[in-house]
Amino acid sequence: MFSAVDAKSVVAAGADAGSVRHRAAAASAAQRTGRDMGGHLNHTLTLAAPTLARLCEAGEPDATVTSAGTLPRVSPYPTAAVIGAGSSGIAAAKALRDRGIAFTVFEASDRVGGNWVFGNRNGMSAAYRGLHINTSRDRMEFSDFPMPRSYPDYPHHTQIAAYFDAYVDHFGVRDAIRFETRVAHARRGADGVWELELSDGSTERFDALLVANGHHWDPRWPEPMFPGHETFTGTQIHAHDYRDSDLFAGRRALILGMGNSAMDIAVESSHVAERTFLAARRGAWIVPKYLFGRPVDQLPNDPRLPVKLRMRVFETMIRLAVGTPDKYGLPRPDHRFGSAHPTVSGRIIDRLQHGAITPKPNIARLDGDEVEFADGSRERVDVVVYCTGYRISFPFFDPGFISAPDNRIELFRRVVHPDIANVFFVALVQPLGATMPIAERQGEWIGDLLRGEYLPPRRADMLRAIRAEDAAMRRRYVASKRHTIQVDFDDYLRDLEAERAAGAGRARAAGYALPVAPLAAGPGAAAARRPEDEDVAA
Ligand SMILES: Cc1cc2nc3c(=O)[nH]c(=O)nc-3n(C[C@H](O)[C@H](O)[C@H](O)COP(=O)(O)OP(=O)(O)OC[C@H]3O[C@@H](n4cnc5c(N)ncnc54)[C@H](O)[C@@H]3O)c2cc1C
Ligand SMILES: NC(=O)c1ccc[n+]([C@@H]2O[C@H](COP(=O)([O-])OP(=O)(O)OC[C@H]3O[C@@H](n4cnc5c(N)ncnc54)[C@H](OP(=O)(O)O)[C@@H]3O)[C@@H](O)[C@H]2O)c1
Repeated sequence: MFSAVDAKSVVAAGADAGSVRHRAAAASAAQRTGRDMGGHLNHTLTLAAPTLARLCEAGEPDATVTSAGTLPRVSPYPTAAVIGAGSSGIAAAKALRDRGIAFTVFEASDRVGGNWVFGNRNGMSAAYRGLHINTSRDRMEFSDFPMPRSYPDYPHHTQIAAYFDAYVDHFGVRDAIRFETRVAHARRGADGVWELELSDGSTERFDALLVANGHHWDPRWPEPMFPGHETFTGTQIHAHDYRDSDLFAGRRALILGMGNSAMDIAVESSHVAERTFLAARRGAWIVPKYLFGRPVDQLPNDPRLPVKLRMRVFETMIRLAVGTPDKYGLPRPDHRFGSAHPTVSGRIIDRLQHGAITPKPNIARLDGDEVEFADGSRERVDVVVYCTGYRISFPFFDPGFISAPDNRIELFRRVVHPDIANVFFVALVQPLGATMPIAERQGEWIGDLLRGEYLPPRRADMLRAIRAEDAAMRRRYVASKRHTIQVDFDDYLRDLEAERAAGAGRARAAGYALPVAPLAAGPGAAAARRPEDEDVAA
């Protein structure tokens, strides 16, 4: 049930004029029953009439919102479910809340922060005791919630987890999160409404689904596993399960990979292990955490300049600052800087140059208590840590419906599914830079879409853009399953702003009709009210 309130009182109570304007627009759009939306949304549901129907069903005839002066208390927008309350899910949730979208966040764990919660009871965190961020504080923080200035440039994971915890309280998002509730299955019904089967046995329906389940929790082991792995007598783990350097104390450790997990874990091992070997099938440019006295991701990086040029400049700076990796015994990269996801480490070079880490080529096979390498050398090894990356997984979707084989999934600007109008992916990107501000902007974008203030391009245009981006990524990056969702931080945000502006124009031309129909009506509505709405007297 809802009651009507006077538009003026909403404005007086602090609601933004845009939202009032939009509610009226949504209402008038609602009257254009079954209207063709200019071919923009041939894959989506047309809206309007259902909004009216839902408002009327709720028993308030005057809530049909036909006059600009009378508005419903309950959001006329579609309801949304968010899967996951990691940094991406909470950023999206905050954006939905700001926009008056009714939503519920489902979180498998008992707390927010996902990967950044050491020992997270969801079993999905890869955080190890010594983990610090490798994107700097000022680049990682949300735009409207700075990290404490007492934090260092590269805070510890406990500080990052505390920051996300404070974020949900600051913005009043916590109440909308259903903790310890895993989405077991997400099914899209014939009417387009999402039916979520939850781990508590209940089922809930939502108009839109935001997927923020993270993509660094499903370990990718070497494919295929190395010969002899079944009979190897030592310990074999994936980086995802590494917690503490105690694992290496007094042992002979072999770390495989050249990404950030391999760097950190090799360094940790090098302080306590009898020997630490670092094996790789390919070299990588090692980016120090500081250049010219500044966190490296805070150096100028103007997206108006060609990316190739910027990468050449970075490569030159790295060559001047630390030299090429072969100078300290690692394989020479088979690519220019910028053609692989950056490997950032302020410590690996020291540990190599101190002789505490011994570089090796790729593993050829495991043999009893020994490992043979691609150059034929052999070493006795007690523990192998495979730092071989992650799979993108959506265990709650039927695989034939939505999946990411070989980590590939076609999404417009990495968020919008070209064939399913009411599913959105948050932070399904591997940025050269931090993830959080990207999730924040994506959440705002999705929120605008759900309010009808952004209209996606036609399907054919989305597909064209997706394929062009994919082709550019394949041209630029080394062929690897780790390079399927790469984005350049500043470039992506700039492009997203441009797309949001273009989509706002399309929305205006379409009379602000809602691209996602509000059909589900349900418990998610509890979170619909924005803080300013709550100030309105009942
Ligand atoms: C070791 C490591 C270090 C990293 N360092 C950085 C860094 O310095 N800077 C950076 O920007 N990025 C870094 N990353 C990338 C990392 O992915 C992001 O920092 C961030 O964790 C992404 O947040 P997320 O919310 O997308 O995913 P996650 O943090 O993985 O959170 C996903 C959430 O979804 C929940 N969930 C999943 N499935 C379900 C379900 N079915 N039902 C309900 N809830 C569900 C999980 O419980 C979890 O809380 C790092 C990654 C790793 C592995
Ligand atoms: N301090 C931090 O903030 C921190 C620490 C750890 C991780 N992270 C982040 O976590 C994410 C995952 O990083 P990650 O290092 O775990 O994974 P990753 O970036 O995907 O790197 C995987 C590495 O394993 C190699 N590899 C994969 N399969 C292999 C095989 N079969 N044989 C030999 N080598 C193989 C890859 O080589 P190819 O390039 O040849 O494929 C690559 O060097 C990244 O976003 C990273 O930035 C951050």
